[in-house]
Amino acid sequence: MTYAKAKERVARLREEIHQHDELYYRKSAPEISDQEYDHLKKELAELEERFPSLQDEKSPTRQVGDDRAEGFETYRHREPMMSLDNTYSEEELRNFLQRVQKLFPSKTCSFLVEPKLDGVAVSLTYENGRLVRAVTRGNGVEGDDITKNVQTIEEIPHRLAGSGWPEVMEVRGEIFMTFAEFSRINAEREKNGQALYANPRNLAAGTVKLLDAREVSQRDLQIVLYGLGYLSDEVFAEQAEISPKLREWGLPVVDWTRLTENFEDAWAAIQELDELRRTLPFPTDGAVLKLNDRALQRQAGATAKAPRWAIAYKFSAEQAETVVEEIVVQVGRTGAVTPVANLRPVLLAGTTVSRATLHNRDEIERKDVRVGDTVIVEKAGEIIPAVVRVLTDKRPTDSRPYVFPTHCPECGTELVRLPGEVATRCPNLSCPAQVRRRLRHFASRVCLDIEGLGEAVVNQLVDREMVKDLADLYDLQAEELERLEKFARKSSENLVRAIDQSREKELWRLVHGLGIQHVGATAAKDLVRHFGSLDRLANADESELAALHGIGEIMARSIVTYFANEQNRELLARLKARGLKWEEQSSEEDASDRSLLGKTFVITGTLPNYNREEATVLIEQASGKVTSSVSKKTDYLLAGTDAGSKLTKAQKLGITIIAEKDLLQLLNT
Ligand code: IVH
Repeated sequence: MTYAKAKERVARLREEIHQHDELYYRKSAPEISDQEYDHLKKELAELEERFPSLQDEKSPTRQVGDDRAEGFETYRHREPMMSLDNTYSEEELRNFLQRVQKLFPSKTCSFLVEPKLDGVAVSLTYENGRLVRAVTRGNGVEGDDITKNVQTIEEIPHRLAGSGWPEVMEVRGEIFMTFAEFSRINAEREKNGQALYANPRNLAAGTVKLLDAREVSQRDLQIVLYGLGYLSDEVFAEQAEISPKLREWGLPVVDWTRLTENFEDAWAAIQELDELRRTLPFPTDGAVLKLNDRALQRQAGATAKAPRWAIAYKFSAEQAETVVEEIVVQVGRTGAVTPVANLRPVLLAGTTVSRATLHNRDEIERKDVRVGDTVIVEKAGEIIPAVVRVLTDKRPTDSRPYVFPTHCPECGTELVRLPGEVATRCPNLSCPAQVRRRLRHFASRVCLDIEGLGEAVVNQLVDREMVKDLADLYDLQAEELERLEKFARKSSENLVRAIDQSREKELWRLVHGLGIQHVGATAAKDLVRHFGSLDRLANADESELAALHGIGEIMARSIVTYFANEQNRELLARLKARGLKWEEQSSEEDASDRSLLGKTFVITGTLPNYNREEATVLIEQASGKVTSSVSKKTDYLLAGTDAGSKLTKAQKLGITIIAEKDLLQLLNT
C-alpha cells in the first residue's frame, strides 16, 4: 500500500469509527456488530503502525469512546476509567501473556480470568461507606452523573456492610439487563408498536440514560462490580481478593473467576466460560484476563487508553452463510425507513433466520449488499440478525447494485434525510404505515384503552382509508364498520361505543396517546398535573417544560417540536372539536377510587394479562403506589412468572405476595 492510499484509508476509517462510536455510546443503537467494529479498529491500528507519520493523538485507537449525553451533569473521575485492549485470536492472547511475563522475569505471573459482561460501565463512589455518586465512563476522564437512576437498582447497597473499606473508594462494574427482562420489555414495546431494542446491552445503556428515574425503576437493571478506581487507602494486594471483599461489603459480584498460572490454564478457563455462558442469565461477550498482582499491575502501567496488564478475549458471534432473496424497506411510527433483507432460511444459533436488518442506506452502500448475493449473517445474542458481509466471489455475474428507494413504499412521498441523521424518513405524517402504528399506540391499554381496536382492525381501517388520522376514529359509524371482516352489527356497535367512551378518559391518556417522542405514561401524568389543560400544555415553552420535575431537556424539546408542527395542531383542533377531554383538575384530588390509598406495591416477573406499565396504571388509578424495590415498607409484591430476587426478598421479609387475579380482586372490592 502506498502512503497516499494509506492516508486516505486512515481518514475514512477514523470517520467510520467515529460514526459507529456515536451510535454505540450516545444513541445505544449500534449498526454493526462488535466484531465488525473491532475489525475496523484493528485495521486502523495496523495502518498507523506501518505509517507512523499518520499517527494522531486524536485517533480512535488512542481514545476511549464517549458516552456522555445531554441532560446529565458531568463528573470527573478521581482516577480515569480506562478501556481494555481486546482480541479474538488465541495467538494474540498467548502473546499478551508472554509480553507481561517478560516484564517481570523473576516472577511467575498469575492471571485472573473473569467473564466479560456486556453492559454499561459505571463507577460508584463510596465515601465513609455511603454511596455518594454513580458516574458513567464518559470519555474516560469525566462521565455523566447517573446517581438517581442507579439508585433504583435494588442490589446496590446505599451503605456498605462489614468494615475495612477505604474512606473514599471508586468501585467499577457493569450495569446490565438479564435476557428475561430484555424479552419482557421488548414484548411490551412490540404490543405498543414501539421500536424494539436489538440486545440487552443497548437496552441497559438506553435505560441508564433515561431522564426520568421513575421510568428507570420500571425496568429491572442489575449490576456487578469487578474492579477499582481511586482508593484512599490501598487495601488490596491481589486482583483475586477484590471480588470476595466486595461481596463481604454487600456489593454484587460475579461468582465465577479462575486464577491461572500459564497460558494453557487460562485457555482452559476461557473454554469453560464459553460453555458456561450459554446457561448464564446475563449477556457476556468474552473473558477478561487480569494480572493478579496489583503491585505488578502498577509497574506494567497503561497506554493512553488501556492498561498493559489486562486484556479482553472476545468470543466470536455465531455466523452462517445464506442468500439474499429480496431487499424490502419498512416504515416505523416516526417515519424512519429501515431496509431489511429477506433471506433463504438458514439455521443460526438455534433459530431459523429468514430476515436480517440492513440498518440504513449507508450500511447497504458500504457493504454493497445486492439481491442474489451470498452473505454472511451473524447473530451476536441479538434478536435481529445482521448481514456482516458479502461473499463477492459468489456474486452472480448479472447482479446490480441495490438502489435505495427515493420514495416511501407505503405512500409514495419523497423520502428525506435530515442533516446529521443516519435514518432516511418518510416526512408524511399521514403515511398509512405511520398512521397504523400511531393508532395502535393511541388505542392501547396504556393510552385511551379502546377495546376492540386491535391490530387487525387498525390495519383494515387504514387500508380501506376509513381512518387517516386519530381524529377520524371519532367519526366512524357502526354501519361503515359492518363492512370490515368478521364485523357484525354487534361488534360494530361495541367498537363505536368504546371509541365514544374514550372521549371521557383521563387527560393523561390522551397526552400519552398522541405519541410525542419520549413522553411515556408517567411523564404524561406529570404534564397534566402541572398544566391541567391540553391547550396550556401546547403553548408551554421549552424552559418551562424542562424546569418540571421528571421532564428533561430532550423531552421538553420533543414536546415543543410536536406542538409546533402545523399538521399536529390541526389534528388537535379536530380532536378537540370531537369532544375529547381537554381539561382536568389535579387528577389526584379527583381520584374517585381510593381503594388502594396508602398501599405500596412492587411488581416482578411476567404477568398473564397486563404488562408492568399497565399494572402500574391500574394500581395508581386506585390511588396506590408502585415502587421498584422491595423493602419493609412494601405492602404487596405482585408476582408473575420468572420472578427473581424480588420474590425471594419479599418472602424473607414476610410481605404479602399476590398474583394478577388477586390484584384485580383488590381493585373490585
Ligand atoms: S476491567 C482497566 N473486567 O468491558 C480495566 N471490564 O471493553 C477495565 N467489562 O470498559 C475494565 N466485564 O465496561 C473489566 N470483568 C470485567 C469486565 C469489564 C465487562 C467491560 C468494561 C470495560 C469494557 C472494555
